[in-house]
Amino acid sequence: MSTERRAATIARDVAAQWVLRCVDCAREYPGLDVRYRCDCGGTLDVAHRFGRISLATFDRRRGTSRTIDRSGVWRFRELVLPLDEAHVVTRPEGDTNLYQSPALAEFTGLAQPLMLKHEGENPTGSFKDRGMTVAITIARLLGKGAVACASTGNTSASMAAYAAPCGMRAYVFIPEGKIAYGKLGQSLAYGAKTIQIRGNFDAAMTLVEQACRERDVYLVNSMNPFRIEGQKSIAFELLQDLEWRVPDWIVMPGGNLGNSSAVAKALEELRSLGLIAKLPRLAVVQSEGANPLYRAWSTGAPLVPVADPSTIATAIRIGNPVSWKKCLRGITALNGVVEQVSDQEILDAKARVDAAGIGAEPASCAAVAGLRKLVAAGIVPRGASVCVVLTGHVLKDPDAIVGYHTSELPGITPQFANPPVTTDATLDAVLRAMDAA
Ligand code: F0G
Repeated sequence: MSTERRAATIARDVAAQWVLRCVDCAREYPGLDVRYRCDCGGTLDVAHRFGRISLATFDRRRGTSRTIDRSGVWRFRELVLPLDEAHVVTRPEGDTNLYQSPALAEFTGLAQPLMLKHEGENPTGSFKDRGMTVAITIARLLGKGAVACASTGNTSASMAAYAAPCGMRAYVFIPEGKIAYGKLGQSLAYGAKTIQIRGNFDAAMTLVEQACRERDVYLVNSMNPFRIEGQKSIAFELLQDLEWRVPDWIVMPGGNLGNSSAVAKALEELRSLGLIAKLPRLAVVQSEGANPLYRAWSTGAPLVPVADPSTIATAIRIGNPVSWKKCLRGITALNGVVEQVSDQEILDAKARVDAAGIGAEPASCAAVAGLRKLVAAGIVPRGASVCVVLTGHVLKDPDAIVGYHTSELPGITPQFANPPVTTDATLDAVLRAMDAA
């Protein structure tokens, strides 16, 4: 088949299955239009025309060895993007553990074990791989030779790793000096052109949108609606882990607000298809120093960007989140709440998550810290079934770990420090260190 005929066939198939719809004005565009915003400036949703879908199909796929079915994203392809297997770029990703922790239930004040969906167990160590497999699949379908993103570190690591085997050029825009070393290292290692901007994430985001227009480079930030479709699978897989029983609450951190938008969209779609009987409630947790959603939600006013966001949880150091309208829509639909936490609370919660043997990066642990506050305030009942989404791997940010345990982080008084000890190289000294309390 000629390239043109193939493109026409794909476009016809897609037209029957989804369109892009503006979140603000509901204007619709063809499903494979290369655009990230409506002409009115609003962000876009993938609006599906779902066919008949059965949960049993997803359960049957989970046990098989086919790569596309082992992917915790593409296993749910009828709900994500119903693409032919031949088009799909997958590692595979997802299929992450759902931990049950009595220790973290005790820390957060819950009566039953806290559930933690560990998205740090994805191929590049964060939930971003779930959105990236879909965005890169579409990039390849569109014949794009280059992709770009602005990032606080995890999106860039993921994009670089997915672009490399496809032979795509990858351009990473990051705020200079403000991303964790593990993430910067990944971007360099996977071969992305890494551009450190003398400015914050929000400046990098504005620039990458402009640069992509100038250079015909495909933008894979979560403003790209296909990223959101992939990230929905966190919710699908979490419910599948629970044999499709819906927990009372899902708690997750919020930065650019794509991920919380995705989880809410997933749950609303399951509900509207009649595949689940009720919706969980949603709690989105921000850092006090980067809390534009918290302010908007608490006041009921439109979001006002935070000009100079600051937090140790660099992944969510974002003042002007792109997906705030989608996120607030989801929070409203799921009767959700927004909480904020201090860096001290984030790092103490992280020390407990890490010491439970689970481990996650600071931004992920903001959700655990937020849950603890919500239980203390009586908003999340002690007896509730709760699942936290741990968004990134413990090794993403080793500086935060060592700085905390050696009491070297400015303004932080570690409540759960476990500092290393140094001894002389003698048996006597080593035994004394071992026996010390
Ligand atoms: N947790 C981690 C570990 C993240 O990397 C991010 C976002 C979030 C939470 C927040 O998710 O932005 O969808 O609300 N990281 C982006 C990045 C911004 O560039 O890696 P969000």
